[in-house]
Amino acid sequence: MTTNTYGVPTRSPLPLTNDGIEVNSPSRSGVFQASADERMEAFGESISFDRRLYRHDIQGSIAHAEMLAEVGLLSKEETSLISKTLREIEEELDANQLPIRFELEDIHMHVEQALIDRIGDTGRKLHTARSRNDQVSTDIRMWVRDALDEIDQKLEGLQNAFLGRCEKDFDTILPAYTHLQRAQPVLAPHYWLAYIEKFARDRERVADCRKRVNRCSLGVAAVAGTTLPIDRSLTAEKLHFESVTANSLDTSSDRDFMMETAFVLSVIASHLSGWAEEWILWSTVEFNFIKLPQTFCTGSSIMPQKVNPDALELSRGKSARVMGNLQTLMLLVKNLPMAYNRDLQEDKPPLFDSFDTIFAMLDIATPIVEGSELQTESIASRLEEGYLDATTLMEWMIKKGMPQRRAHHLVGAIVGAAMERKVPLKDLPLETLKEHAPELDESVYECLGTQNAVAAFVSYGSTAPTQVRNQIDHWKSILKK
Ligand code: ARG
Repeated sequence: MTTNTYGVPTRSPLPLTNDGIEVNSPSRSGVFQASADERMEAFGESISFDRRLYRHDIQGSIAHAEMLAEVGLLSKEETSLISKTLREIEEELDANQLPIRFELEDIHMHVEQALIDRIGDTGRKLHTARSRNDQVSTDIRMWVRDALDEIDQKLEGLQNAFLGRCEKDFDTILPAYTHLQRAQPVLAPHYWLAYIEKFARDRERVADCRKRVNRCSLGVAAVAGTTLPIDRSLTAEKLHFESVTANSLDTSSDRDFMMETAFVLSVIASHLSGWAEEWILWSTVEFNFIKLPQTFCTGSSIMPQKVNPDALELSRGKSARVMGNLQTLMLLVKNLPMAYNRDLQEDKPPLFDSFDTIFAMLDIATPIVEGSELQTESIASRLEEGYLDATTLMEWMIKKGMPQRRAHHLVGAIVGAAMERKVPLKDLPLETLKEHAPELDESVYECLGTQNAVAAFVSYGSTAPTQVRNQIDHWKSILKK
């Protein structure tokens, strides 16, 4: 048996079971004098990937039917029969019992045909004042809305994992890097709070993007609206949308909300990938800053000593897929004349893949953050390497009235002298310091050494212990446990 690009067989294993109307698909009207070539059916199907929209599709159909009853296009009895039968079809889909028939193309036609198979002409009325163009758009909007809420929850879980580390690691000092060179000392919770901030912005983006997702497209029909007296606001209200879209042409073609969602997910992927890379480095013998939980590491088939950070490597690797999916969506949409074009069916695989990938990445990040251990002794043993306090010394001189450029130059020379002797700044005798800067006195030692250097910070947003403490308290009051 041949299969299509998504691995589905090119022919349905089951015959059609409709009630006698001679079509091989409900979308092929009387204008057709030939049924579809089976290669076309296999090429054109989306049921293999849009089946997961079924709950939203049925929810949308029930709201649509109820609205049709309110405006007099269906009777109350017809609507309750439709709703009841749709609920039964939903249960069959839940139980994986509704047969997939590839000639029915997508989830919308499967649900509608199942309805017609059960209740005949009443079922044939459901598609009144509706097209699959507005139907698919509404289904995805509802699906994305729920998925964004789940992303938000998982991001909050990850923020909590970092926040949970802050007290425990409060006294650990880590080097901050720029250019991956040792730069200045920071408290470990300053790192954790940095990630909390990144994920907070991600959550803001999720919330903002959700506003544009949360507009109801149902009722724009195919492209121009409908001559039937529908009430779009009523449908929107039933489906908990914030508003209805304003222009049928625009709506039929609009996939901005999907591109935007894919972008929001790409930024999350970028943050997770950067974190993964950082902790991969930190877990090496060379850094030895962190020990990852062994439950999220793998071994080597030949080197018995290896404990590899595969979960982090895969997070870094999978982020590429999420970013690739954004490109796919951008390219898919960019040359389309208005309005709906069948190209748009290809929007779902990248969108779903981005969500699935980010869900998986977040699910694995949280326990890794919770379960990793800072290697405090190893970190402390090399903390005086790399002159993390040089900038503090320079600022100490500025506080004594020295121009910044001169202080910068002099500290550079002092660091050079310390390097020659292979000692940290705090171990240089006062005479040596004075050789370079006669203004220096004994009190300079109060700012030297990484402990003193961290304690010397004062500015808002810095790693000053009081600042870090305030930030921890701030996030504790915001994040719900
Ligand atoms: N399977 C289609 C999709 O996912 C549904 C919409 C089809 N609309 C149409 N006019 N052929 O985009």
